[in-house]
Amino acid sequence: MGPLLLLILLGLAPAAPAAQPLIGSDVCRKCHPDVWLKFYKNPHYKTIALANQPPERTGCESCHGPGRAHVEGSGNKAAIRAFSVLEPARILDACLDCHAGDLGKAHIRRSQHTEAGVVCTNCHSIHKPATDKFLLARTQREVCYGCHAPVRTEFSMPFKHRVNEGFMQCTDCHNPHGSAAPSWRMAVRPRMVEQALAGEEACLKCHSDKRGPFVFEHTAVRIEGCETCHRPHGGPNPRLLRRPVVFTLCLECHTGAGNFGRRGTGERMQSPAHNMADPRYHTCTLCHVRIHGSNADPLFLR
Ligand code: HEC
Ligand code: HEC
Ligand code: HEC
Ligand code: HEC
Ligand code: HEC
Ligand code: HEC
Ligand code: HEC
Ligand code: HEC
Ligand code: HEC
Ligand code: HEC
Repeated sequence: MGPLLLLILLGLAPAAPAAQPLIGSDVCRKCHPDVWLKFYKNPHYKTIALANQPPERTGCESCHGPGRAHVEGSGNKAAIRAFSVLEPARILDACLDCHAGDLGKAHIRRSQHTEAGVVCTNCHSIHKPATDKFLLARTQREVCYGCHAPVRTEFSMPFKHRVNEGFMQCTDCHNPHGSAAPSWRMAVRPRMVEQALAGEEACLKCHSDKRGPFVFEHTAVRIEGCETCHRPHGGPNPRLLRRPVVFTLCLECHTGAGNFGRRGTGERMQSPAHNMADPRYHTCTLCHVRIHGSNADPLFLR
């Protein structure tokens, strides 16, 4: 009785679509010629062209699920996986069915986007992509600005990375699919910032002269990370600095207070020999030129 009941239940379970026989992609042409005729250009056409996948992973049905009931019902929408009415979590599952391997590394299920219900189809368009690569719904910049409008303003500031000019893009620094906990900033606030090799901050891909390791490290660079002193997108101050005048940035930490730093006495004050009434002392990096680390001098003077 037990096993029999189980069999009956399984047979009735609506969540077992694989039980429905597959029908193949050719019949879809009749009623969806617009989608069908363009599909040969889609990277997903590979599943048909190579014919190396099982039927449930081939062509239209690999994403939309078995189509027989839909066709026999003359286009019954309820009988097919229609992404237009699917909840975000189900969309994610459908795509990760194949993409878990490549995107899993980004911890996609725990990313801020996934947690906020932003999933694949918010950024990608399978049938009406606007880009040649990656099937994006619009150009990358416009996809991101569509939801992150304030960031556009930051990239329009006087000093900025040239994203709006098309020189680089959001994904040079971010992975929209998620990221591992960073190895900088005590691993807090990941912000989906992409990691370069060896878990280092993405900035070092391009600014490799700041990579070190240096004989004398400036702790702030190594531990807190670049954005402690710089605004990564853009801002009103030269060198993308967080403060308009250099010394106000330095004195945020170099107060002599606290118990941080090598000697446990707090970050050193600038020495009494520094004449803060003299304007040249306001640009600390006039003398402390190797502010990101030095191989010659523990005070970063050369
Ligand atoms: C890689 C997954 C995938 C494959 C393969 C796929 N689709 Fe889609 N389809 C989607 C998604 C996602 C949508 C929702 C709209 C969008 O994001 O583009 C969609 C939307 C549709 C729509 C709604 C109308 C429209 O233009 O948006 C139709 C009809 C459709 N697909 C038919 C097909 C047919 C026919 C095939 C095979 C030739 C196919 N799909 C293959 C994922 C897929
Ligand atoms: C007999 C004509 C017919 C055939 C064959 C057919 N469809 Fe459809 N399909 C329709 C109609 C009509 C609708 C619109 C239903 C509605 O809006 O209620 C539709 C809707 C859809 C949708 C939902 C789009 C949305 O709104 O999100 C998908 C996905 C889809 N079809 C995929 C397929 C696939 C895949 C095949 C091939 C296996 C296929 N269809 C074959 C007629 C057909
Ligand atoms: C049946 C397996 C399968 C499913 C399901 C699937 N994909 Fe894919 N996807 C592939 C394959 C295979 C490729 C091609 C990889 C290659 O070119 O080597 C691909 C490529 C892509 C690409 C990269 C295109 C490029 O230009 O490099 C994107 C983006 C993508 N898929 C998004 C999606 C989204 C979004 C969904 C869910 C709606 C989805 N995929 C569902 C198998 C799948
Ligand atoms: C917040 C927007 C966003 C979301 C959500 C998103 N993507 Fe992407 N995806 C992108 C962008 C932007 C790129 C292009 C990356 C680049 O230019 O290097 C991309 C690239 C890809 C690629 C090709 C390159 C790679 O990294 O492997 C695949 C495959 C892909 N996405 C699949 C998916 C799937 C599947 C989902 C859902 C599970 C998804 N994406 C969710 C924005 C997004
Ligand atoms: C559909 C809307 C949408 C799109 C498109 C989108 N995002 Fe998001 N993004 C969100 C939401 C919602 C959150 C989570 C809430 C928040 O922290 O702002 C988020 C969070 C983020 C975060 C983390 C913010 C933080 O405070 O930690 C980054 C970084 C980010 N998105 C970058 C991107 C990039 C890069 C793109 C383009 C590839 C993109 N987003 C596209 C809606 C979107
Ligand atoms: C030069 C590298 C870089 C580029 C390019 C970049 N970001 Fe960022 N972004 C960062 C870093 C680093 C942070 C973390 C800042 C912090 O936590 O102090 C960040 C934070 C964010 C945040 C969360 C905090 C905030 O400022 O709202 C969002 C959202 C975001 N970026 C979106 C984008 C979008 C959208 C683009 C492309 C238009 C983009 N970023 C391009 C490096 C970059
Ligand atoms: C894709 C390469 C790339 C990445 C990644 C990148 N940058 Fe840049 N950065 C540049 C280029 C190129 C310039 C200067 C040219 C310009 O105006 O675009 C620049 C300029 C700067 C400047 C101003 C330099 C000056 O002389 O005024 C600072 C500061 C800076 N970047 C910090 C960062 C930080 C911090 C990060 C990580 C959050 C980062 N960059 C990530 C390429 C990159
Ligand atoms: C302790 C604060 C601080 C931290 C942390 C920091 N910087 Fe800087 N950075 C500065 C200051 C101050 C300047 C301006 C130097 C000057 O006045 O010429 C600067 C200048 C720059 C410049 C332009 C001039 C040059 O030397 O090339 C780049 C690029 C740069 N920083 C990148 C980075 C990167 C990448 C990181 C992270 C690895 C980082 N910075 C971390 C304070 C910092
Ligand atoms: C985010 C905090 C922070 C900021 C901002 C910062 N520093 Fe530091 N700095 C440190 C720490 C921590 C040390 C190491 C102290 C120790 O090891 O005892 C250090 C060490 C130094 C040293 C070596 C002297 C010593 O005590 O080891 C000099 C010189 C220095 N910083 C100058 C600067 C200058 C100039 C600026 C502004 C451009 C600056 N710092 C900005 C945190 C910071
Ligand atoms: C005119 C060149 C010059 C300028 C400008 C300058 N420094 Fe120095 N700094 C030195 C020299 C030389 C030393 C080592 C001798 C000493 O202690 O006076 C030093 C030492 C230091 C030390 C280590 C003190 C100790 O007790 O070991 C710190 C911290 C420091 N400076 C921070 C700063 C800060 C912050 C600024 C900007 C407000 C600044 N410096 C501006 C030349 C300069």
